[in-house]
Amino acid sequence: MALLEIKGITKIFTQNKKPDHIVLENMSFTVERGQYVSLLGPSGCGKTTLLTILGGFLPTDAGEIILSGQKVETPGPDRGFVFQNYALFPWMTVKENILYSLQVKKSGKQEQNERLQELLDISHLHGSENKYPVQLSGGMQQRVAVVRALASRPEILLLDEPLGAIDFQMRELLQEELAVLVEGAKTTVVMVTHDVNESVYLSDRVIVMSSDKGRIVQDVRIDLERPRNRQSEGFKAHVSDLTELVRQAFHEKAVELDSEPGFLKTDASIKRQSSFTEAYNRMSSKYTAINDSRAAKKYN
Ligand SMILES: Nc1ncnc2c1ncn2[C@@H]1O[C@H](COP(=O)(O)OP(=O)(O)OP(=O)(O)O)[C@@H](O)[C@H]1O
Ligand SMILES: [Mg+2]
Repeated sequence: MALLEIKGITKIFTQNKKPDHIVLENMSFTVERGQYVSLLGPSGCGKTTLLTILGGFLPTDAGEIILSGQKVETPGPDRGFVFQNYALFPWMTVKENILYSLQVKKSGKQEQNERLQELLDISHLHGSENKYPVQLSGGMQQRVAVVRALASRPEILLLDEPLGAIDFQMRELLQEELAVLVEGAKTTVVMVTHDVNESVYLSDRVIVMSSDKGRIVQDVRIDLERPRNRQSEGFKAHVSDLTELVRQAFHEKAVELDSEPGFLKTDASIKRQSSFTEAYNRMSSKYTAINDSRAAKKYN
C-alpha cells in the first residue's frame, strides 16, 4: 500500500459576487514510501493549496487524504512542514528550533538530547546549536528548517518552495545539500517548486499541474542516477520536456479572484484553518524584525 493516497480531492474557494473558484477538482495520486515527489505548475494552479491540505491545515470539499492508512484531517506529528523561506523561530537558538516539536510533545530530556545529536550529525550543524538563525548562512538555516521538521520522525516531509527566495548560484548549492540531507534521513518528500531544474535535480517523480482546476497534466518519472549531473543529456532532456509541459499547463484556463475572498463571510471553519499559514508568516516576520535587530546588537 502506498504511504500517501490522495483520493479524488476537490477544493473550492467561494468568492464574493463571482462564480465559485474550483482550485482542485477530483485530484488523485499516490506517493510510495521513500519517494521524492515534486509538484510543478503555473502560479495559482493550487500547489500550495494541495500542500496545505496534505498538512491538515485546510479541509477539502470532497475526497480524502490517507497517510499510512489513516485519514488526514488535522495537522499532526506524522507530517513535517517546511514553510516558504524556512520560517525558523528567530527568537530561538538552533537547538531550541530543532527540539521545538519534541518539547511540545513533552518528550524526556534524554530522548531530546539523543535526537538532537542525531539531527546535528545529519545536518552538519555541530558547533552551531547555540546560535540564533540570524547568525547562520542561508544554507545553514535551510538545514535547521529541514531537521526541525524531521525531529519528531514524521512519515513525510512537506516542503513549500523551500528555496523560493534564494538567488540562482546559491540555489544549486542548497539543492545539493537538500538532496544529501533527505537521502541521509531516508524520508518521503512532497515538494512544491516553480523551478523545473530543481525538480529534476531532486525528484524521483515530477507531477505537472495545470491552471485549470489543478488537473494533473503529467506524472513524470525521473530515473537518473544520483547525485544528478545537470550537464548530462538525460538531465537536459527532462528539463526541456518538463518546461514544455509547464508552458502548456500555463495556457489552461484559470479564474480571476477577488482581492477579498468570499470565504471570509461564508465559511468560518475554512477561514480559521486557511489563515493559519498567513498568521504564522505574519507572526514570524514581526518577530524577525524585532529579533533581527536585537540579535544583531547582541552578537555582532
Ligand atoms: N484562502 C484562500 N481563499 C480564497 N482563494 C484562495 C485562498 N488560497 C488560495 N486561493 C486561490 O487559489 C488558487 C491557488 O492558490 P495557491 O496558493 O494554491 O497557488 P500556487 O500554485 O501555490 O501558486 P504560486 O506558485 O504562485 O505559489 C489561487 O487562485 C489563489 O488565489
Ligand atoms: Mg504557492
